[in-house]
Amino acid sequence: MTLKRLFIQNLRNLEGVDIIPSAQVNLIFGENGSGKTSILEAINLLALGRSFRSHKHKPLIRHQQQAFTVFGRVHTDDHSEVPIGITRSMDGEASFKANGVIVSSAADLAAYLPVQVINSDTFLLLEGSPKVRRQFIDWLVFHVEPQFYPAWKAIQRCLKHRNSLLRRDRIDRFELASWDQELTILTEKIHELRSACMAEFESNLSDLLREFVKVDGIKLSYYRGWDKDRDYSDILAEGFERDQRLGYTQMGSHRADLKITVNGQDAAELLSRGQQKLLVCALKIAQGYVFSRITGRKSIYLVDDLPAELDDKHRKLLVHWLHTMQTQVFITGVEQETLLSSWRDRTEIVPKMFHVEQGRVTEVSEILTSGLNE
Ligand SMILES: Nc1ncnc2c1ncn2[C@@H]1O[C@H](COP(=O)(O)OP(=O)(O)O)[C@@H](O)[C@H]1O
Ligand SMILES: [Mg+2]
Repeated sequence: MTLKRLFIQNLRNLEGVDIIPSAQVNLIFGENGSGKTSILEAINLLALGRSFRSHKHKPLIRHQQQAFTVFGRVHTDDHSEVPIGITRSMDGEASFKANGVIVSSAADLAAYLPVQVINSDTFLLLEGSPKVRRQFIDWLVFHVEPQFYPAWKAIQRCLKHRNSLLRRDRIDRFELASWDQELTILTEKIHELRSACMAEFESNLSDLLREFVKVDGIKLSYYRGWDKDRDYSDILAEGFERDQRLGYTQMGSHRADLKITVNGQDAAELLSRGQQKLLVCALKIAQGYVFSRITGRKSIYLVDDLPAELDDKHRKLLVHWLHTMQTQVFITGVEQETLLSSWRDRTEIVPKMFHVEQGRVTEVSEILTSGLNE
């Protein structure tokens, strides 16, 4: 899966960008505030229908403009080409298109362009709320298991109904029982899909941990969201009074988490910030790797401000792994030279360089070649 063409109009400070990225490595450099992160944001919008920086769409639209558009041509792993696009306007209107057809939700887009993001927010994976780690688990499950998303959506609906029932003065027990029954089937399904993916994921992680983190005793445990020794239907039945008091369903797949420990202690408390970053890199690489192994497809990596986040040695290591996976990557940084230096040892790769200046993007491949031959 690669992005063959990227067209951006009126997104943040990007008025009009039209580039043909390399199917391998794309290095994007420019001063702070020039628009580098906005380019990655555009790709993420194309992939997921939403930004990694803002939940609102208005801040994304260029000042004094009515809408932004991002359009791309995706070269799929079975060698066909799919045009995909997203437009959002000031009045909230959103349109997602894939292959010339309007698709109803951003999730339909996501299947076309699997994207992994590594930025300063990603590095909060360990310290952040369980929701962040749940999203991490679900990225893989979503992309490898077609049954996951419909089940996940149905669970949201079930929980909404059950929770509103719990808040009523008089609860119809028959109605509750029917929601509990549906919820139990779906919850067990979601757990089954998640645990199969996590088992596959973990078995691929140890080599990466050895290279990246060099700390013994790191362990990942997937927590399903309720006591593993109990049936979910019993959990619901026994927790009824507590759920009623709380006004929501306390236990379930919506409480799943990934517990990351070092010799039994919470990794977020024990590891230094630098070590946490390396662990997160290993987790992100492992995910893309497992995704490829299971599906035969490849995800795109967006790495924002790499030199600011990792030292030279670990930048090279990350680059080595990205290269090994043969995926398309987009990496940003302020200085061209620093970005380029991580790829110096890999002369078989010719990265494309893009210079960003006040929202304008120009390709500068000649400078790159001379840099590599030094
Ligand atoms: N809606 C908008 N309209 C116009 N400019 C914007 C808008 N939102 C943000 N900007 C500006 O876009 C610029 C690009 O930001 P960013 O992509 O984060 O730059 P970089 O990653 O290169 O530091 C910033 O200078 C910011 O002030
Ligand atoms: Mg930036």
